[in-house]
Amino acid sequence: MSYSISRPRRLRANENIRRMVRETRLSVDDLVHPMFVTFGKGVKKKIESMPGCFQQSLDNIVKEAKEAQRLGIPAVLLFGIPKHKDARASEAYNSKGVVQQAVRAIKEKVPGLLVITDVCLCEYTDHGHCGVIKDGKVLNDPTLELLGKEALSHAQAGADIVAPSDMMDGRVGFIRDVLDSHGLEETPIMSYAAKYASGFYGPFREAAESVPQFGDRKSYQMDCANRIEALKEVSLDIEEGADIVMVKPAMTYLDIISDIKSTFDLPVAAYNVSGEYSMVKAAAKLGWIDGDKVMMEILTSIKRAGADIIITYHAMEAAKILAK
Ligand code: PBG
Repeated sequence: MSYSISRPRRLRANENIRRMVRETRLSVDDLVHPMFVTFGKGVKKKIESMPGCFQQSLDNIVKEAKEAQRLGIPAVLLFGIPKHKDARASEAYNSKGVVQQAVRAIKEKVPGLLVITDVCLCEYTDHGHCGVIKDGKVLNDPTLELLGKEALSHAQAGADIVAPSDMMDGRVGFIRDVLDSHGLEETPIMSYAAKYASGFYGPFREAAESVPQFGDRKSYQMDCANRIEALKEVSLDIEEGADIVMVKPAMTYLDIISDIKSTFDLPVAAYNVSGEYSMVKAAAKLGWIDGDKVMMEILTSIKRAGADIIITYHAMEAAKILAK
């Protein structure tokens, strides 16, 4: 009797056949490059916990934005580190704030590059929380007012997309109303819809100087054990008018990315966050892994899980490899 075993290895025999049957293709089109804007001139300050990332003043931010565009990256995401922090995050919605100035400068000097802004208060508050505090609690509704002002000032400066990352309830709808009532109905909202309270944000908090001065973010960001709740968060944001929904972090939440992609019909973004980036850099430096290989594997896995857009500090390096 002839017996033929199944031989999937036939389709793995060489690189050309592997190319032909490859299911997922990472592209430079998928990538968003995050940048940290600070005040001053000629500033390019290393972020120790994120090798290869910097806090930069306007002049250098524009240079880096040009480089991102040259590499074919479609969009950058801006975070601000203001000179002055206070309880009401005044710099977040100052029309002359660091992010607002950077948006204007990039739109003027690097036409065509999309500028996305992170809308949150934690980089601008002296207590480091993402909202207004009263009696040690983060208040939801009073925070919406400030987020609305912040999103509006970013959009008025010319931001192509605003991305609220605070996790207050109702903020997408609130921001949508504010934008619409100011003639900015064309500005999309990319909501950090399923954002988890994560240890992987550690290095970012050094980068953005946004460590909470007391407590943690568990009363507003999601519990990492929850999966169904992510679908609820996403459906609420869609009802409120989100155009793109995001999962954050990415690597330890691939199941969530997959669930959302198969449940909803909106583009899904995933944020490959600071801790995920820094772990790769640290292990590569120790010679324990091949950093480039692991980076490409991680980014491909995020895409395979269902992400249409990947926000990653690896964007420039990955773009170079993809261009080869
Ligand atoms: C602001 C914000 C954070 C990140 C993006 N937007 C930090 C936080 O929620 O503590 C994290 C990004 C990263 O770790 O790369 N709320």
